[in-house]
Amino acid sequence: MTVQPSGAQQPHVERPAGAGALSAAASSTTGAPTAATGNPKALYGGTGTRRITVHDISAAKERGEKWPMLTAYDAMTASVFDEAGIPVMLVGDSMGNCHLGYETTVPVTLDEMTMLSAAVVRGTSRALIVGDLPFGSYQEGPVQALRSAMRLVKDAGVGAVKLEGGERSHDQIELLVRSGIPVMAHIGLTPQSVNTLGYRVQGRGEEAAQQLLRDAKAVQDAGAFAVVLELVPAELAAEVTRVLHIPTVGIGAGPDTDAQVLVYTDMAGLTQGRVPRFSKQYVNLRRALGDAAREFADEVVGGTFPQEEHTFH
Ligand code: KIV
Repeated sequence: MTVQPSGAQQPHVERPAGAGALSAAASSTTGAPTAATGNPKALYGGTGTRRITVHDISAAKERGEKWPMLTAYDAMTASVFDEAGIPVMLVGDSMGNCHLGYETTVPVTLDEMTMLSAAVVRGTSRALIVGDLPFGSYQEGPVQALRSAMRLVKDAGVGAVKLEGGERSHDQIELLVRSGIPVMAHIGLTPQSVNTLGYRVQGRGEEAAQQLLRDAKAVQDAGAFAVVLELVPAELAAEVTRVLHIPTVGIGAGPDTDAQVLVYTDMAGLTQGRVPRFSKQYVNLRRALGDAAREFADEVVGGTFPQEEHTFH
């Protein structure tokens, strides 16, 4: 089966619209977490305000706690998710198709990733920010991976990096972790390999399932603190989640992983066209923004905007 890829202010007088919008957004509350867990340490719904670390993520696995992760590509959206209590945000290379207008994740560069990761870090105060290593920035080997990861950690300020691959990325993960950089691994469907894998469910059949299990164990042995399982059968994802001591983060991997991640443009209804079956749309921002743009345009053309309250004398 082939699957559609993910991604298929408050103005005030005397300052330009948009200036300081982030702090305006921070003061106009978008709502706190809604799940009452009763546990002050809970990743989602807990009372902690300091930046979440990979140690908090490991502790959640020990408690058997599930947690949500969303992608983010800009400071303002990230500030909304931070305020909503999303504990982990991924500056995914899905920015290629969801934010930068590319067809796939393949063209995304380390410069683009660094710039947008820095924006997401600036827009948040609590979430652990994970920066994706883009295609071509780590495949040459551990030293290249370290050089690339250093940029995301030092220039953008991310708390961890993510890279694709199981056994094949073992040595990269090991050197990064030994150098003090937490790594989230990503196995199953790895979109950077779209040209060889396509967008298909991975791990079907005995041999492929065994390989996925080997990949999962390899990234854990290399020191990864968590692993994304993308587009794998639910039963296999449940088995991986049971055998690993690091948390699994599912996307299209059924209900039994420790965490779930969605590409935010899919879940917010911004993605143009069809979204993958494994995703869920919680709001239709595309329609809301389009309506707002049309209303603004109609008022400009009709001469009803701006009015006296928007005007200086
Ligand atoms: O780039 C991305 O958004 C991802 C998620 C789909 C896990 O890798």
